[in-house]
Amino acid sequence: MKRTVTCGDLRKADEGKTVVLNGWVHRKRDHGGISFINLRDRYGITQVVVDEDSSSELLSATGELKMEYCIAVEGRVRARPDTMINPAMPTGEVEVVAVKLEILSRSEVPPFVIDEKTNASEELRLKYRYLDLRSQQMQRHLALRSKVTYAVRQYLTGLNFYEIETPTFIKSTPEGARDYLVPSRLYPGQFYALPQSPQLYKQLLMVSGFDRYFQIARCYRDEDARGDRQPEFTQIDLEMSFVSRDDVLSLIEGMMGYVFRETLGKELPSEFRRISFDDAMNLYGSDKPELRFEMQMQDGAFLAELGTFQAFRDALSGGGKIKCLVVPGAAEKYSRKMIEDLEGTAKIYKAKGLGWMKASAGENGVSLEGGISKFFEGKAPEICEALGAKAGDLLLFVADSNGTAACTALGAVRTRLGRDLNLCDPSAFAFAWIVDFPMFEWNEEENKWDTAHHMFTMPQEKYLDTLESDPGSVKGDLYDLVLNGYELASGSIRIHDPELQKRVFKIVGFSEEEGQKKFGFLTEAFRYGAPPHGGIAPGLDRLVMLMSGETSIKEVIAFPKNSFAQSPMDDCPSPVDQQQLDELHIKIIE
Ligand code: AMO
Repeated sequence: MKRTVTCGDLRKADEGKTVVLNGWVHRKRDHGGISFINLRDRYGITQVVVDEDSSSELLSATGELKMEYCIAVEGRVRARPDTMINPAMPTGEVEVVAVKLEILSRSEVPPFVIDEKTNASEELRLKYRYLDLRSQQMQRHLALRSKVTYAVRQYLTGLNFYEIETPTFIKSTPEGARDYLVPSRLYPGQFYALPQSPQLYKQLLMVSGFDRYFQIARCYRDEDARGDRQPEFTQIDLEMSFVSRDDVLSLIEGMMGYVFRETLGKELPSEFRRISFDDAMNLYGSDKPELRFEMQMQDGAFLAELGTFQAFRDALSGGGKIKCLVVPGAAEKYSRKMIEDLEGTAKIYKAKGLGWMKASAGENGVSLEGGISKFFEGKAPEICEALGAKAGDLLLFVADSNGTAACTALGAVRTRLGRDLNLCDPSAFAFAWIVDFPMFEWNEEENKWDTAHHMFTMPQEKYLDTLESDPGSVKGDLYDLVLNGYELASGSIRIHDPELQKRVFKIVGFSEEEGQKKFGFLTEAFRYGAPPHGGIAPGLDRLVMLMSGETSIKEVIAFPKNSFAQSPMDDCPSPVDQQQLDELHIKIIE
């Protein structure tokens, strides 16, 4: 029985038609001789009815049906009686009265019920991923992913980008995370690496004159998994020649606008707001701020002298910061215990404590109570005026002699409040560019400078003379795109001058010889007329995750790894035969 319609097709206008459906038994109910089968395929669910006066063959096949049997049904479309219409189902006005039913494939009892959204454990879902993927939710997510990828290809190809594949067996070069290595059989003791990203190849493609490149690129990084991280993931990787930062930013604004319009029917602003890294840290305590709500942090330096709170004075005199958050109307809602809980969040980010006061209406205007208010006797009007606090507001403070630590800790509290107080509209998409990042970061463990993004980023021109003498103050020509508190993309204008590239290698601790050994092919290429170029790479998994309203990229990847970088379905990683190891000249040391 060849299918003529899908389980999502039929409407009232189809009444009277004879159709063939193929699909899986989603649910089966028997009502005194009549059976109702909800038949499911990727397009939807259609109700099939087997009447009691059906042929004995049909009745016996129906009697055998269990959940997840794969079947073919031929029948006639009939309008449901008014009382039986199901407005929640697109096909809910009709049902198909079966005349013939064939079991295409039987199913064992599935380990969990395939529902719109299953409540099976993640481990079980991953072990039986092929069943988990049958759920409407997973089907919807993967459909969206496919549409997003298609829209990206349409948009970029329409703007003269070439889609070019780059190798997935490459030379191991440091790019931030640990490499996954592939041993070479032909060259004992030598390894390929799986790419952490196509970074070097896309730059080489610019040297080759391709001018505009993109790739839906698979990347591999051996780093600890998190909700928004997988050991293998996908980037929308692109690179352009003869561009400045703003050309790349506006291209991506256009691409996101197109993708959201085509796939979700949602209009985005034509330009995204731009926030400097310093402002992002000071106002939101994060370089990937959640901007679906504002509630900016404020500077509380004036409080050190105004009151007698020693921790504030110490922080300031130690060269640090006092950061403050006014949470409107939260004074009543937050008990001492709940504030302690918030303090726990601040402490995860190394805060020594979370100071608090509650503003209330006093006899002479506003007063401050509780927490650290005793250190600020009589200063309530002044403090509230300066911080814009009103009666009923909760005031929270983190002070630290390390200013960045104060920002980060209170920023984490801000993000948590956003969640706890439902300040984020789940259907909103708050994009922003974070620009003017520091070029270098001090690596405490190794006592050396590292690049904040990667080693190929162009320092901003005004810092070229002080690159070596003051690396800490150099800003890079690099940018991140953030969306709803996640880093969605990173990119930069690149160095295309071999001498400048060598200077950067040297600052991060590569000797001339090492730089030559690891990246010689790149600096060599730059000697042959390298064009100025820049690019960016939005994470496809994170994009689709956020578009689907999910908080884990596993929800939008067909076959992801679990949090321990394993696949419970096929048990990988797994041992290999001794013969395979021998061929690779590998000895396992227990
Ligand atoms: P970066 O390392 O910042 O930049 O990565 C770019 C984007 O890729 C996504 N991403 C990840 N997604 C899932 N799991 C991971 N483990 C993971 N790691 C990164 C994020 C991130 O913003 N070559 C540069 C880009 C460039 O400069 O053009 C790069 O890879 O969304």
